Amino acid sequence: MRKNIVAGNWKMNKSLQEGLALATELNEALAGASLNCKVVIGTPFIHLASVVAAIDTRKIGVAAQNCANKESGAYTGEVSASMVKSTGAGYVILGHSERREYYGETSAILNDKVALALANGLTPIYCCGEALDIRNADKQNAYVQRQLEETVFNLSADDFNKIVIAYEPIWAIGTGVTASTEQAQEMLAFIRSLIAAKYGQEIAENTSILYGGSCNAKNAPELFAQPDIDGGLIGGASLKVADFKAIIDAF
Ligand code: PGA
Repeated sequence: MRKNIVAGNWKMNKSLQEGLALATELNEALAGASLNCKVVIGTPFIHLASVVAAIDTRKIGVAAQNCANKESGAYTGEVSASMVKSTGAGYVILGHSERREYYGETSAILNDKVALALANGLTPIYCCGEALDIRNADKQNAYVQRQLEETVFNLSADDFNKIVIAYEPIWAIGTGVTASTEQAQEMLAFIRSLIAAKYGQEIAENTSILYGGSCNAKNAPELFAQPDIDGGLIGGASLKVADFKAIIDAF
């Protein structure tokens, strides 16, 4: 059965000290709580090892927000999937729209990143989602389908079974405009139907598909109650423990 997941994406926020304080506070807030979802925090690279050491990783998973598309070597400034793994992190967010848009991540690059993440035992949280003009032209389904077909649908069934998908419409990220519950459910059901057509019903039922984009304590209960919404990828609201915990408690 697929897992419910609430994953935080800190983006480029928090010094090492601030990040450690945030992770420790979250760890304390969740200690003793019985959770109905897996909690993950996506920190900047520099926080990973310290955060892993400071929290109960049986309760809170740790994710990088990116990894290199190369294995190792002369790639100044890059951080490889095996380096991420060596910190004790278990997940990596890949293909976030901010990386596609500002850092030129193409499907070809993402194929290599996903493959390296899997080869190093990391769980990719693979992001997809359309911009506003595509939604306004009602072409979002074809757009997301293409993003999946060009990347994760190249995986074997065994490998696909190890990934998490996050649908994040770009127009909803950091804007305060959430997709309506119907829009989110409709897209996630569509994504699941594509997975079923490609890999079969069992794998489709086993795949956790998250919604992201201005998800908050107020809208999370209704979103998470939808049959195909298995959790959220949370940006802004993951930076405050009270807000993030309220989203976790929506399950
Ligand atoms: P947001 O970001 O929750 O701040 O909209 C979500 C994301 O980009 O992962």
